Amino acid sequence: MTYVEILAGGKGTRMGNTDMPKQFLMLGTKPIFIHTMEQFLLNMDIDKIILLCPKMWISHAKDTIDKYLSDTSKIIVIEGGSSRQETILNGCKYIEKEYGINDDDIIITHDAVRPFVNQRIIDENIKKAKKYGAVDTVIPATDTIVESSDGKSLSNIPVRNNMYQGQTPQSFNIKKLMNVFESLTEKEKEILTDACKAFVLKGETVSLVQGEVYNIKITTLHDLKLSNAILAERTNE
Ligand code: CTP
Repeated sequence: MTYVEILAGGKGTRMGNTDMPKQFLMLGTKPIFIHTMEQFLLNMDIDKIILLCPKMWISHAKDTIDKYLSDTSKIIVIEGGSSRQETILNGCKYIEKEYGINDDDIIITHDAVRPFVNQRIIDENIKKAKKYGAVDTVIPATDTIVESSDGKSLSNIPVRNNMYQGQTPQSFNIKKLMNVFESLTEKEKEILTDACKAFVLKGETVSLVQGEVYNIKITTLHDLKLSNAILAERTNE
């Protein structure tokens, strides 16, 4: 089975003062997370789409799905976790409890606030997750990335050709993902903000899929304005 987790468990604090978490804000004529879900609903290789959101927003999410989407048969809405990592794990535990996990089952995890993901990226994630067990979607870094360990002075400037910016989806063999999570120490869990990083730490291969510059994550008000501009340009095309 091929599952998708739409990660909508965050509060969107960097968006500033809004009356709802950013994933529920409007982008053009639909809420951001609806645009995102539509992309996964279009893909015929996907069996189930699990939306994970804060408990108090579950009924709002369900009502919104019923309002904007016609075929909701593949969609499940459940509670996310207190960290992004925990949200991912909650989805895996739900799958384990409801359906059981087979050796070749995969999960595509995607930020609810990246509405411009496309079918090529999704298809390549599915193909490579089946083949390699772990996939990250990335684009080559265009700016030079610099590292500072104290925030005051440079400690390192890595070679730009080796640097990429991480996007989502990140996709995994579910059994492998749960095994990797379970093998982490409490200290490792604290510092690991990224599921792929956990794989790297455990010496597992993470295959790369080429993302897109426009597959942006809506984090701030500026990103929302930019997204509206991208959408308007597409509508005009
Ligand atoms: N996310 C999640 N569960 C969490 C935290 C984040 O599912 N406990 C999701 C967010 O809803 C978002 C994605 O992970 O779709 C990317 O995270 P980010 O942009 O950092 O979202 P927030 O945590 O909501 O934003 P902020 O850090 O500004 O509060």
